[in-house]
Amino acid sequence: MARVFLTYRLPESGVALLEAAGHNVAVRSQESLITTPELISAFQTYEAVITLLTDAVTREVLLQAGPQLKVIANYAVGYDNIDIATAKERGIVVTNTPDILTEAVSEHAVVLLAALARRVVEADAYTRAGKYTGWRPELLLGTELKGRVFGIVGLGRIGRDTAQRAHYGFGMEIVYHDRDRDEAFESEFKARFCSTVDELLPLVDAVSLHVPLTRETRHLMNAERLMLMKPTAFLVNTARGPVVDEVALVTALREGVIAGAALDVFEHEPALTAGLQDLPNVILTPHIGSATVETRSAMSELAARNVIAVLSGTPPLTPVNA
Ligand code: GLV
Ligand code: GLV
Repeated sequence: MARVFLTYRLPESGVALLEAAGHNVAVRSQESLITTPELISAFQTYEAVITLLTDAVTREVLLQAGPQLKVIANYAVGYDNIDIATAKERGIVVTNTPDILTEAVSEHAVVLLAALARRVVEADAYTRAGKYTGWRPELLLGTELKGRVFGIVGLGRIGRDTAQRAHYGFGMEIVYHDRDRDEAFESEFKARFCSTVDELLPLVDAVSLHVPLTRETRHLMNAERLMLMKPTAFLVNTARGPVVDEVALVTALREGVIAGAALDVFEHEPALTAGLQDLPNVILTPHIGSATVETRSAMSELAARNVIAVLSGTPPLTPVNA
């Protein structure tokens, strides 16, 4: 029996698995996020810790972990909050929650895309404000997605699934950029490969970002790249906030460099960059890409199974620093 710590309450199904495996589970009960001193103290006490994507598992924190700590199971597919190299150096396994959240996130990406194109949020505000005084031929005209070019930046699981939904669901043409070319994907989706993001951006009517946050992808969408887009094009970000330079984005949206943006993640989350919330051509959701009842329970269970595996001396299901 080992001691497992959750830095925040999670759906019960994962906790039940841990308890059924005979582990002693402690859950931090505060609404606020865990502080660095508390995280260090947990790393000195428990054999396993389940972390949130907002928990800063830095080198400094990991260097203070005790020898009892075997595994950090991040409750997210992204793990840019964890210094993977240092964890590996200290012999601590790190796991994430891939695959099970793919559909939830890609559904949200196409929901945001469609909401932008059909001005759903604007139309809702208009109606609630009592401005709807009768049907009009040119009231709140949107853009049709059928036949439009959709750019996918990052052809991982989520990028692929988003392409599939946009292609088969909305009849969009797919172009994509990734470090690796995928000819099977190209023939299945009649998709065009772009060897650079700069080559992709001028082609698209909408672009959706599906890259992890790394040194290379930070501010991937900067002022220069936004200028490469059509003035009628949309940007969707369900990946990580800092992939977009938000100050440049606010300027681009204000000046009509691009037509609109839908953001589920923010550069300085939960803070919003000044000006963002005043723009009518923006949709903002609070990092809810994977936020479905089904997926959040599945994430809880996968994090628990990873912990159980490592604590029983077997390989984790979804390690990131094996
Ligand atoms: C959410 O952003 C995740 O990485 O799972
Ligand atoms: C990212 O990890 C993805 O699942 O696309």
